[in-house]
Amino acid sequence: MNRLRPFVRTMSTSALPPSTIPLLTTVAEFRLWREAARRDNKSVGFVPTMGALHDGHMCLVRKSLAENDLTVMSIFVNPAQFAPHEDLATYPRTLPRDLEILTAESLSVSGDSTIRTASAVFLPSVREMYPSGIDQNVAAQKGTFLEVKGYGEQMEGKSRPTFFRGVATVVTKLFNAIEPNNAYFGQKDIQQCLILKRLCRDLLLSHPDPAHVHIVPTARDPTDNLALSSRNAYLSAEGRKIAPTLYKALKVAEQAWNDGQPKELCIAQATDIVRNVATLAKESDLEVRLDYIEFNESDSLEVLDRTRCLEVDSRPVILSGALWIGSTRLIDNIVLGDMAKLQ
Ligand code: PAF
Repeated sequence: MNRLRPFVRTMSTSALPPSTIPLLTTVAEFRLWREAARRDNKSVGFVPTMGALHDGHMCLVRKSLAENDLTVMSIFVNPAQFAPHEDLATYPRTLPRDLEILTAESLSVSGDSTIRTASAVFLPSVREMYPSGIDQNVAAQKGTFLEVKGYGEQMEGKSRPTFFRGVATVVTKLFNAIEPNNAYFGQKDIQQCLILKRLCRDLLLSHPDPAHVHIVPTARDPTDNLALSSRNAYLSAEGRKIAPTLYKALKVAEQAWNDGQPKELCIAQATDIVRNVATLAKESDLEVRLDYIEFNESDSLEVLDRTRCLEVDSRPVILSGALWIGSTRLIDNIVLGDMAKLQ
């Protein structure tokens, strides 16, 4: 018997769009679904998202479909990871389209006649996720929040000091609700991935355990290698042309690094690439500003202070950066060394 079918709803009487994939909005409802999956001995893969789906999210879904009996996606725009001045209000919310994209994704399992599609979408309200309420201003917050100390202050954390606290808090709640066997995150947010692995390790989580927090390579636009991101939708036509500059700059730094140059020179060459593009963009009144390009240790996330480390140890190094194009902030990274060694 398929115990999961009763959770399908047609939604005609609710605010949610119609969906052939079960849409679950409360933790209690989800726990019933999860219990049925457990009784049926089905493995559960989890893809947490904030919606505005693009092919990067679908790469995570495809991997989950291939590696698990059942795949769950959550769509929740998490207020706690947006600073008061950031784009919570304008973050793209495209649920009907997201459900269409997700419904269209299927995978036929080899050696089997089974076609896998997503099995459930978790769509909690803000109240459901933050029973004690949520204020975007950290100083005014009440209730329980999680910090992964020492790993969220550098790289992205320098410009977004409360971001990883918000991510760690919401993902812990989602892991508690979903109890996935595997969870999938995109490499574009590499610091997020590494912090979440550490969180699972530090909190002794088993669903998922840190080894089952998977980092999936960044999905890129095949025409110009721009990392896919929901925030690319904010770019003007001119900004979109310029957006691949960050990855180009990182590739220049990677090449210099592989040629044996010290990291300061690698960063200087990458910075030059951005500076040249910024000068041209200024002529059309578009402000292009490099936030940072840096090399960091992949285990401690500390800024790399050695001139060169790959000969002496084989731990990967993260080369990452952030670029402002007008009011849109884009991030990207390259892992130098073996991705499989990221912990
Ligand atoms: O990467 C994201 O989309 C978000 O940070 C996540 C992991 C869904 C938490 O809100």
